[in-house]
Amino acid sequence: MLTNIHNPSHIPCIFKQKDVLLRHNPKKKTRMKIAIIGAGNMGSAIARGLAQGGLVQPEDITVSNPSEGKLQALQADIPGLEVTTSNVKAMGDADIIFLAVKPKVLEDVLRELPLRNGLIVASVVAGSSINSILDYLSMICPQGHVPDTIFFRIVPNTAAAIGQSMTLVSSLAANPKQRQLMLDLLAPLGPTMWVPEPQLAAATALASCGTAYVMKYIQAATQAGIELGFKAQDARRMVTQCVMGAAALLQDNPDAHPATEIEKVCTPGGYTIRGINELEHSGFTSAIIKAIKASV
Ligand SMILES: NC(=O)c1ccc[n+]([C@@H]2O[C@H](COP(=O)([O-])OP(=O)(O)OC[C@H]3O[C@@H](n4cnc5c(N)ncnc54)[C@H](OP(=O)(O)O)[C@@H]3O)[C@@H](O)[C@H]2O)c1
Repeated sequence: MLTNIHNPSHIPCIFKQKDVLLRHNPKKKTRMKIAIIGAGNMGSAIARGLAQGGLVQPEDITVSNPSEGKLQALQADIPGLEVTTSNVKAMGDADIIFLAVKPKVLEDVLRELPLRNGLIVASVVAGSSINSILDYLSMICPQGHVPDTIFFRIVPNTAAAIGQSMTLVSSLAANPKQRQLMLDLLAPLGPTMWVPEPQLAAATALASCGTAYVMKYIQAATQAGIELGFKAQDARRMVTQCVMGAAALLQDNPDAHPATEIEKVCTPGGYTIRGINELEHSGFTSAIIKAIKASV
């Protein structure tokens, strides 16, 4: 939610005209200029992903952040990357701007946007809908006129840092070419999925908050392993590989189903079915459903 809207009457909007898509060719590096605002977890993961992805050159990516330490660390990892402490400088001639800041500073950053027809802005800010962003911009633009900027919302998860995110992408106004461009740009972060914006909160609960729920299972199973006599690191290694293997059995296999995989390991009268039934008696399925619904 965008809250705390300030009096914006003195704030100018800058209008320019460009068409980045005319230059987009997924097969080769283009001269798109990218700005990433915020060099935290998400901003850094996006910068690393874009730099590895082959669609843009590091020299065409500028990351801005108020403190310099994170910028220097990124620049050390990504030779050629441009960095600055000025958002305005980073966004000046950008074709695509990624907003990777916390919700409390989003309005400050929106006021600095060099709005113009054809500009593409992708926000990772959780909970701020495209309409709430547009409402805010229409308050701060002269005569309430917001130039035809294409807004995206993108929801990576923390595994973006290792190229294993499930990244959700949404937009109200993007055309198929613009959608594809965004999906291509984000591909190095991990698999991407297009989600209509009304379903984005629910998808975020599954694909982004879900990381925490899976971690909770890993933590709980590791605790059990320690009680059963294993060293913490051995227990965690067993549990994490078990989780990865289980996920791999289902991933990209339309014929696989959790129920079938569970049945395979449940010998009649055996140990696994005892554990499965204990999970049910303890409300495991219900707890997971409640947790995911609670985070929408
Ligand atoms: N973490 C996740 O799993 C996840 C998943 C999906 C979406 N998101 C969303 O992604 C956004 C960023 O999350 P994060 O985890 O990357 O947060 P983060 O690590 O705290 O990064 C935010 C960055 O923004 C910088 N910043 C603060 N004020 C700024 C300004 N006015 N202009 C430019 N940069 C500014 C901060 O700099 P300093 O620290 O130097 O002040 C910090 O480096 C959040 O809105 C969150 O809701 C996060």
